[in-house]
Amino acid sequence: MDALSPGREVAMQDSNGFWRVRRRCETLTLADFVFAADELRAPAENEITIHTRHIALDPYLARAMRNWTGEVPEWADGTIHGRIVGEVLSSQAPGYAVGDTVLAIGRWQAVQTLAAARAEVISPAINPPRLALGVLGRSGMTAWVGLHLARPSTGETLLVSAASGPVGSVVGQLGKARGLRVVGTAGGADKCAYVVDTLGFDACLDHRDPDLTGRIAAAAPEGIDILFENVGAPSLDAALPTMAQGGRIMLCGLAAHYNDEAPLALTHFKTLLYRALALRGFITAEHPKLFEPALAELADGVASGAIVHRETIIDRLEQAPAAYLNMLQGAGIGKRLIRL
Ligand SMILES: NC(=O)c1ccc[n+]([C@@H]2O[C@H](COP(=O)([O-])OP(=O)(O)OC[C@H]3O[C@@H](n4cnc5c(N)ncnc54)[C@H](OP(=O)(O)O)[C@@H]3O)[C@@H](O)[C@H]2O)c1
Repeated sequence: MDALSPGREVAMQDSNGFWRVRRRCETLTLADFVFAADELRAPAENEITIHTRHIALDPYLARAMRNWTGEVPEWADGTIHGRIVGEVLSSQAPGYAVGDTVLAIGRWQAVQTLAAARAEVISPAINPPRLALGVLGRSGMTAWVGLHLARPSTGETLLVSAASGPVGSVVGQLGKARGLRVVGTAGGADKCAYVVDTLGFDACLDHRDPDLTGRIAAAAPEGIDILFENVGAPSLDAALPTMAQGGRIMLCGLAAHYNDEAPLALTHFKTLLYRALALRGFITAEHPKLFEPALAELADGVASGAIVHRETIIDRLEQAPAAYLNMLQGAGIGKRLIRL
């Protein structure tokens, strides 16, 4: 392997490089991603070297890509760190053996050495292990935790945005299992057909419809009791006029807004007061006690086929930046992953 100075830009085929972001920016474009050179080093005490197998294209990363602050300090030079699954090649850390498969916060890089504290061995029960990035990982857990916090009751109406995505798809299926009427929104007829025909939602509306507000009102004639919001202001605003008195809004994500800082406006903001709505943002990581019951139900559901999930897998590390930006725009269905 070439010994190249860190940070130098290289061609993909030349090295075991990694992706970083060239500059802090308002809105990411493809030109902001740099493939930088790296020198592979052997693991020191409490470190492991892994071969990355899959990289999760998670929407929240766009914010860190723009401002260089993320879950680990190394973001401070623009080096992308996200959720990855990899195989241990070498270990100097107790509890990590060569051949183990781990879920880690790591670079967008093929072979890398990292602190073992940033990686956990994936249980063999999670098979294939890449499901730990999606339905049996943070995506599925977020769906379960958010719906649990909303305290759903049988017969209520649930509206889920980004309904074909890894979080939204599971929210809707769990909602059906809890006896809710479930309406989704998604980008385009194909995704909506998948949401209804395969995932079992009662209805799905194309969020690009110019009268989304009217379509939501028609699809939820008794009002929305729970809104599970994955997208942000345009989606929330379209739902507000149909919220039932005392309805709950679970603010899970801002997929429409991570890649810019434009001010957000809500035409129907006053409805929050007039309908006595509760709006609750939640962070899944702040509810560790719920992980065990969440994973138990999700694993059972996946094993039995009661919980359907899809992945869009894009080959080659080279494709990661373009695939990432495309995902933000709605390309692909289900969990979007890079395979190395
Ligand atoms: N609170 C937490 O702890 C937590 C944890 C994990 C994830 N999250 C959040 O949960 C949300 C869902 O996560 P995910 O991984 O399942 O993401 P996702 O559904 O794959 O999110 C990306 C999708 O959002 C939709 N979207 C983007 N811009 C939009 C717009 N302007 N209008 C309507 N839809 C738009 C697109 O889907 P279409 O094709 O349908 O347009 C896009 O493919 C994300 O916001 C994520 O950050 C929160």
